[in-house]
Amino acid sequence: MARYTIALLPGDGIGKEVVEAALMVLEKTKLDVEYIEAQIGWEFWKTEGNPLPDRTIRILKNTACALFGAITSKPKEEAMNELAPKLREKGFVYYSPIVRLRQEFNLHTNMRPCKAYKGNPLNFRDDIDLVIFRENTEGLYCGVEYHPVPEDFRKVINKHRKMNKFKIVPNVEMAVSLRIFTRKGCQRILKSAFDFARKHKRKSVTLIEKPNVIRETSGMMVNEARKMRNQYPEIDFYETNVDAMAMWLVKNPQKYDILVASNMFGDIISDLAAQLIGGLGFAYSGNIGNDYALFEPTHGSAPKYVGMHKVNPIAMILAARLMLEWLGEEEKAAKIEKAVSEVIAEGKVRTYDFGGNNKTLDVAKAVADRIE
Ligand code: NAI
Ligand code: MG
Repeated sequence: MARYTIALLPGDGIGKEVVEAALMVLEKTKLDVEYIEAQIGWEFWKTEGNPLPDRTIRILKNTACALFGAITSKPKEEAMNELAPKLREKGFVYYSPIVRLRQEFNLHTNMRPCKAYKGNPLNFRDDIDLVIFRENTEGLYCGVEYHPVPEDFRKVINKHRKMNKFKIVPNVEMAVSLRIFTRKGCQRILKSAFDFARKHKRKSVTLIEKPNVIRETSGMMVNEARKMRNQYPEIDFYETNVDAMAMWLVKNPQKYDILVASNMFGDIISDLAAQLIGGLGFAYSGNIGNDYALFEPTHGSAPKYVGMHKVNPIAMILAARLMLEWLGEEEKAAKIEKAVSEVIAEGKVRTYDFGGNNKTLDVAKAVADRIE
């Protein structure tokens, strides 16, 4: 039996193309692995009314972790129109398979390294090297939302003194999305960030919140962080408000090291940071839980490039690198890291998005060739 069993979820569109590229690179690391391909994405919504079939969940449950390409998703009406006619009116509702995977496997930590590789013409600066830890299952994206607002809930919030100005608004004219934090959730994401900083000898952890306005949820996160930092005396700790952070990241991104944030703030800040280091061709993340993890590029299925085999596979290759690191295969991870930085620095083999006209697999091959 192979040492690792890993699920491959190529998904839709260019997802398949970049996963093929990452496999070419992984092959060269001689990882002792058996891959099991599993189905996910738009195709399965259209034909089965479920973009994440139960058989896929079962496969994932029998693997160490998953490598995920990208999927297509579309707004409510289009989703209904594309559903197979025999499945319509059967009550199927499209639900994001990625969000479902995060919930189902409790992948509470979203880790997004944002490093500028020297020589990438898309870099904002060459000395950026941050890692963002975003809480992945709670906060504003926990899915507790109401429209119209149910009467029971209305009774509770009507007692709040700040509701006076809303009292005359009918339930149907009001929508509510709840931002729910748990102490455990706060501690978990903070610990991921501090532990990573310690392990990788990073200098600082910066918490991105907004406790001056969102007093209870942000306040809880800040209080937990202030307690936790005492256990990490060697690491500097800073607190910033999310709006100011957006400015600072554009002004002085090289000054930041490890960033930690709740779900929505982390989502926004990580897109900002991704653009500083070259955008979608380079941005990737790990969705990490206590005993399962899923690694993916940030980009989607890029329908306009499907079948052209020209998109940048580096984000996907780096997602595979992060997977190796998570598995404890640090030497193999370091080989991929070195090969990627050399290929980017040399500048001979590049896809269209960073100034070349090579194909997806040309870049993968160039990286693979540098791994001995
Ligand atoms: P997208 O990320 O698929 O593509 C946007 C544009 O970014 C592309 O047209 C291309 O110009 C560029 N791009 C993306 N990946 C690239 C790569 N590897 N190399 C070079 N250029 C690249 O986002 P879009 O167009 O908004 O969404 C397309 C579909 O993907 C939608 O159905 C959307 O719902 C889905 N999506 C899925 C995600 C996922 O699977 N995690 C994330 C984002 C979008
Ligand atoms: Mg996002």
